Amino acid sequence: MPARRRTRRERVSTVSAASDALDLPQMSVRPMNEADIAAVIEIERSSYPFPWTEGILRDCLRVGYGSIVLEFGAVLVGFGVIASGAGEAHLLNVCVREEFRGRGFGRALIGQLLSLATAAGATLVFLEVRPANLGAIRLYERLGFRQVGVRRGYYQTPAGREDALAMRRTLGPQ
Ligand SMILES: CC(C)(COP(=O)(O)OP(=O)(O)OC[C@H]1O[C@@H](n2cnc3c(N)ncnc32)[C@H](O)[C@@H]1OP(=O)(O)O)[C@@H](O)C(=O)NCCC(=O)NCCS
Repeated sequence: MPARRRTRRERVSTVSAASDALDLPQMSVRPMNEADIAAVIEIERSSYPFPWTEGILRDCLRVGYGSIVLEFGAVLVGFGVIASGAGEAHLLNVCVREEFRGRGFGRALIGQLLSLATAAGATLVFLEVRPANLGAIRLYERLGFRQVGVRRGYYQTPAGREDALAMRRTLGPQ
């Protein structure tokens, strides 16, 4: 009899339990550098209708935003960027290669970005998300973010502009 295929829930809990502690042997998170930009742009372009340009990514590195990549084995599977200053942080991007989603990597990336923000002295983190991006909203809610407002006309769409949900969470003891 063929082995029973594990459900998504089983797979996610197995991997994310390990990745929370970042002890998955094949997984590593490290600062992004210039040599990563081609792979990061490829993930960005395949994930968003209006992706960041290479110039935006280079600027993130140049100004010293917390910019990290997550590798699984030899594959760069995701990245994230957070800006911190004056006691606050802004989560600017988190993105996982499509075929690697649902395995805890997004959660691990955000965990690392929040650690960077904490180390930089932030006690509040903000982010924006498209209202239709239910997977991301659920992930953020799981990680303690709550909606605190709406930013009018924040995102570009094929038809014009759309609002963003603004979310926030505190850092430190919850
Ligand atoms: C959002 C994104 C980063 C999530 O990455 P991921 O690696 O798939 O997320 P994880 O596997 O770590 O999921 C963690 C939690 O998020 C939730 N979640 C993530 N994707 C979900 C989806 N598509 N549907 C429902 N819940 C989802 C789950 O509740 C999960 O919690 P659980 O492990 O307790 O079940 C990924 O889907 C992505 O790169 N999307 C395209 C880029 C994007 O939209 N980024 C956010 C911009 S605001």
